[in-house]
Amino acid sequence: MKIAVLPGDGIGTEIMAEAVKVLKVLGLPLELETALVGGAAFEAHGHPLPEGTLNLAKAADAILFGAVGDWKYDTLDRPLRPEQAILGLRKNLGLFANFRPAICYPQLVDASSLKRELVSGLDILIIRELTGDIYFGQPRGRRVATDGHFPGAEEAFDTMRYSRPEIERIAHVAFQAARKRKATGTEGRVTSVDKANVLETFQFWKDVVTDVAQQYPDIALDHMYVDNAAMQLVKAPKKFDVIVTGNMFGDILSDEASMLTGSIGMLPSASLNSKNQGLYEPSHGSAPDIAGQGVANPLATILSAAMMLRFSLNQEAAAQRIEAAVQKVLTQGLRTPDLYSEGTTKVGTAQMGDAVVKALG
Ligand code: IPM
Ligand code: MG
Repeated sequence: MKIAVLPGDGIGTEIMAEAVKVLKVLGLPLELETALVGGAAFEAHGHPLPEGTLNLAKAADAILFGAVGDWKYDTLDRPLRPEQAILGLRKNLGLFANFRPAICYPQLVDASSLKRELVSGLDILIIRELTGDIYFGQPRGRRVATDGHFPGAEEAFDTMRYSRPEIERIAHVAFQAARKRKATGTEGRVTSVDKANVLETFQFWKDVVTDVAQQYPDIALDHMYVDNAAMQLVKAPKKFDVIVTGNMFGDILSDEASMLTGSIGMLPSASLNSKNQGLYEPSHGSAPDIAGQGVANPLATILSAAMMLRFSLNQEAAAQRIEAAVQKVLTQGLRTPDLYSEGTTKVGTAQMGDAVVKALG
């Protein structure tokens, strides 16, 4: 089983070291190969997604990704910015289905900024379309004034766009995920989040999702505008089961949902293509403000490695072993600073990784 390990920038390298530690002690025939990506790749090769890195990713059974980005690259031309690496990987590998589960572990109920009764027992799944929408719309750009009156750009634009097949395939992913969850006791409901009251793209989205729903009579479907969904997520998050939405709304709502779990440092994610090849990454970014200090929470990356074992490598038992170990260290009271509260034990990134390794038993 070939795994491309792409740590990236900022805390990416620190959290990845811990996930690799965990993978290495599982006793599985895993071949890990590391490559530069993002700002680190730009420094070394002049491009955030060098050909060598892309080819390694393409040839791998799965990709474990850290995080990319740093403020110092904000003035670079867009194609050279670190974020283009993750967007390029998603597009080149066709990773259209992004799974972002938000689960509130019982040990972390009080770490959430919401009241305990709102988040206790929370288990929702956000499915974000990842290769379309305004993120990849054409045309895009900036228009420069022609009369010479205003030097520089006077207008900028990005186009929002979805095709029927793009919406159909992500809708199928959502209904199938809801069906799988229903088998384990959840409600079996998909909430499709749109902005059909204003945007043509999302009226179309709503219509296509409604069509696809006919093939899943056992799963309930409801529709919600994105502004209302943002509100409901903090008002009554447990009312959701599976949320399916477009690329940009999914980006925003998944950050919001992460805080229900206590910290964005807990949220893993999987991005799959139609061949079940996948890229696994924490939902958080490179956090340059805390990089190099050894304080970042590695659990989202470790949990992403568990998702990788489950979805792309068919190693359910190993995935469960990691998830149980994470629960165990939380029960032991170990907390990185993002989760720390009085009465718990504050640990750093490496200590947390070591504790998970120990807890694997
Ligand atoms: C995410 C990130 C990315 C996105 C950035 C880094 C391009 O915010 O994975 O949620 O917007 O998709
Ligand atoms: Mg995001």
